[in-house]
Amino acid sequence: MSKNKPTYNKYLQLNKILNGQKRLSNVLKEPIHDEMLFIIIHQVYELWFKQIIHEIQSIIKYFNVNDVKETRINTIVSRLERINDIQKITIDQIHVLESMTPMDFLEFRDLLSPASGFQSVQFRIIENLLGLKRKNRLKFSKQEYTSFLSDGDKKIVEDCEKGKTLLDVVESWLERMPFLKTKTFNFWKSYKNSVYRMLDNDMQIIKDNPNLSDLSKTDQINTYNNILSDYELLFDDKKYKKLLDSGSRKISQKASLSVLFIMLYRDEPILQSPYRLLTKLIDIDHSLNNWRYSHALLAKRMIGSKIGTGGSSGYSYLKKTMEKHNIFDDFSNLTSYIIPKSKLFILPDQLKSQLGYYFNNKEKNEK
Ligand code: HEM
Repeated sequence: MSKNKPTYNKYLQLNKILNGQKRLSNVLKEPIHDEMLFIIIHQVYELWFKQIIHEIQSIIKYFNVNDVKETRINTIVSRLERINDIQKITIDQIHVLESMTPMDFLEFRDLLSPASGFQSVQFRIIENLLGLKRKNRLKFSKQEYTSFLSDGDKKIVEDCEKGKTLLDVVESWLERMPFLKTKTFNFWKSYKNSVYRMLDNDMQIIKDNPNLSDLSKTDQINTYNNILSDYELLFDDKKYKKLLDSGSRKISQKASLSVLFIMLYRDEPILQSPYRLLTKLIDIDHSLNNWRYSHALLAKRMIGSKIGTGGSSGYSYLKKTMEKHNIFDDFSNLTSYIIPKSKLFILPDQLKSQLGYYFNNKEKNEK
């Protein structure tokens, strides 16, 4: 066979990959059997992380233009789907490691210190590229997450913080969405009226219900008043800005409004792909959280309440990241503002035709 032709081994550089498993326990009288599994599983993760980064970077590039073509949206959705499929594999993979007993792990655990998954540069790049901001990160032993990285790794991660994130580019795309305000139509106003009508109607039903005591009527009306003030947060510029400043909202009011519009009118042909896109972002966040949860349980199972090899409070730190390190939660939280289809206002004809696909049958008819 010609020397220059690719072979399976050469193409995949298997010499490098398959010679990269050096057990630290080789120094012991008897190397620990399960350390091989421990190394390989982490390496497999890192390969999947590399693929995920490759996908996210390409999506950011597609989005980072003024005019995202509809055909691009389909490609973006497929890539987001791919990321989510990989994430599901990474969650399943945790079970393989569960076949190692805590005692087996303890045999080589001390040799690993202070190395920890906490130093995974690619994991941090994924979080940063998706849109996790430093100000929203949990402090680790009161220190920045980058303090535990080598100088070289720190630079890579910090450089990545400077670029546009997936959340940033999706937000700008949503802010540019047409349809929301035309000469004859104001989505904001119409939506608000529908919501108030719906809530007024519900409140009237409560008031007229002869089977409710005065106390439970007051209780239920209070609940409705809370729902109403929740909606008002969305309409009120100043209140919304406060939410943004406090970090409890991540995307602008304008972008939120577009999300809501897409969610409410997702059946309109032109909004179907954007709706799928938003759903995929929510899926990615959920899968990341599922991974965090499975990994936290794994840590608990293996080390109980001991500290991690990286020095964190172990399980308790990992559990907190599930609540704090969400990225696309604004999208999932907006489902609280969805109203039933029957209560939706009918879109003006002109807008409805802009949202539809129309096939041109002229040529066919002329034949
Ligand atoms: C025996 C198995 C494992 C145990 C006991 C374990 C334990 C821990 C602990 C306690 C932490 C917190 C930081 C620290 O103090 O070290 C951590 C962080 C981390 N581990 Fe693991 N881990 C295990 C397997 C894995 C695997 C297979 C991966 C795959 C890449 C992984 C990736 C990570 C990552 C990315 C973090 C940082 C998480 C964050 O800060 O949100 N770990 N691990």
